Amino acid sequence: MPVSLDWMIKHLNIELIITNSYILKNSKYKDEILKKGLHKFFGFDGVIYTDSGTFQMYSQGRANISNEETIAFQKAIGSDIITPLDLFTLPSDDKKTARLKLEKSFERSSLLEKMHESYSLPLQGGLYVDLRKKAALLANKYEPAVYAIGGIVPLMESYDFLNLVKVVYAVKSLLKPNVPVHAFGAGHPLVLPLLVLLGVDVFDSASYALYAYDRRMICPHRTYNVDELEYFPCSCRYCEAEIPKDLTTEELAKHNLTVIFEELESIKEAIHEGTLYEYVEYKLGARPELVKAYRWIMRSANKWLQSYEPMSRKRGFLTRDESFKRPLVKHTKNRLSYVKSSCQEVESFMGKIPLSLALSYPFSQVSTYKHEYSWYAESIYFMNKEPLSFIKDVLAYQFRDDFSYKVKWENVKFIYSKTTKRLREVRYKNKVMLTLRSYDNLFVPRDEFYYFLKSQNINFPYKVKVFKEAEPFVKSGRNVFAKFVKDVKGAFQPQDFIAILSEDGRDFLGWGQALLSHKEIPYFKRGVAVKRK
Ligand code: GUN
Ligand code: ZN
Repeated sequence: MPVSLDWMIKHLNIELIITNSYILKNSKYKDEILKKGLHKFFGFDGVIYTDSGTFQMYSQGRANISNEETIAFQKAIGSDIITPLDLFTLPSDDKKTARLKLEKSFERSSLLEKMHESYSLPLQGGLYVDLRKKAALLANKYEPAVYAIGGIVPLMESYDFLNLVKVVYAVKSLLKPNVPVHAFGAGHPLVLPLLVLLGVDVFDSASYALYAYDRRMICPHRTYNVDELEYFPCSCRYCEAEIPKDLTTEELAKHNLTVIFEELESIKEAIHEGTLYEYVEYKLGARPELVKAYRWIMRSANKWLQSYEPMSRKRGFLTRDESFKRPLVKHTKNRLSYVKSSCQEVESFMGKIPLSLALSYPFSQVSTYKHEYSWYAESIYFMNKEPLSFIKDVLAYQFRDDFSYKVKWENVKFIYSKTTKRLREVRYKNKVMLTLRSYDNLFVPRDEFYYFLKSQNINFPYKVKVFKEAEPFVKSGRNVFAKFVKDVKGAFQPQDFIAILSEDGRDFLGWGQALLSHKEIPYFKRGVAVKRK
């Protein structure tokens, strides 16, 4: 190993170690590891996940070990997550072989399931999408710590990103959403964003070392042969050599690791900021195969991705033709179909939209290279002149429901900002019912709004009921944990406002914002499902 584990633990934000039990078993450290256990041996008290010998048996054509043998060894060294000896499926395998390997891999995993171990469930299936789907459906019957998509290294090595995303999508879109997904052997900065977009959570790769031995330098957008470089495209602390050629294998490996970890940080930041699509698209220019893969996702995985589309983001950029195919656009079209506006229309990047929605997300928050608009003054004038039309349209758009058109808006008062002339609040008998959020022109409901609707027998479309034991906590303003959600109503998305009700549905406990989509919540047994304000 060109870089020590101590160095990695000290310098990188490592949350989990994946190491190979087959290599350890065949190393001179075998007895020491068996004696001390993995955690002591590595000096790491986090989660240690061990792979079996599957990949080495394939890539190095080494002598077979048995499934029982590798499992026993992984257990003996104290692995936190054990991997069975699955059967590596090649892209060139015919369907019969791929099916047999898939079934045999499951058989081998069943042993770990029966042993009640914390384990990784490898999913094979080769290039056959129907087999990959079959693997996912079978996998849902198991209770592993992680699902691991296998047999994809050759696809990444040959830059066959189209088949890579087809395979990953076939599996991930059918898997239970509460179990993390690992892509075996993925670690290049070019594929990581794309895989995260498809919902992959865990990565492992030896490329930092293998590439370094091979004099290859990983950069965010490509790989260079370091000995051919005339200039130095990196200034990280390990690239201190005078010229790239002078980098030692160790320095190169440290550089490669640094770049890969920087990539993961950038991806996490993009998720945090709500700009993952922008980030993925920014990478597309690096390889034509990435464009092909992304176009396929926008076409074939769009509907699935739409169900994870947040209600709002602070900003967004549509910088290429592919951007207009994002789930955001289709999802917004769907929201628009609930609006029965009779007001004037204006041109947006999605075609004509009612003026009442022009300042709402995404029409004013997302900028494109094709369009420029200036309906600000008109929009402000409209919300002053026809506040009720404005409110009804925004609510219909926001909550994908026509309730706002059925409500009798009596005894309602509108409060405007003196300086900006924007609508700020809607009050009912002088109690604040709705406030208008300035950055995305969507409404934040207050308790009074629920009672206002209820008094008119109007059903609010997005609801969760919580178990009795959680009621006092929710009432006092605490977040709602997924395991306390009894029932979910309405097709809400992340960030949508939802009404939290008591177990019997009679009492309103407060408003919350969904962190997960309505589809995900029922699966989760841990973590917050609905955030209180
Ligand atoms: N490492 C890279 N690919 C694979 C795979 O398909 N299975 C296992 N167990 N490890 C891998
Ligand atoms: Zn560097």
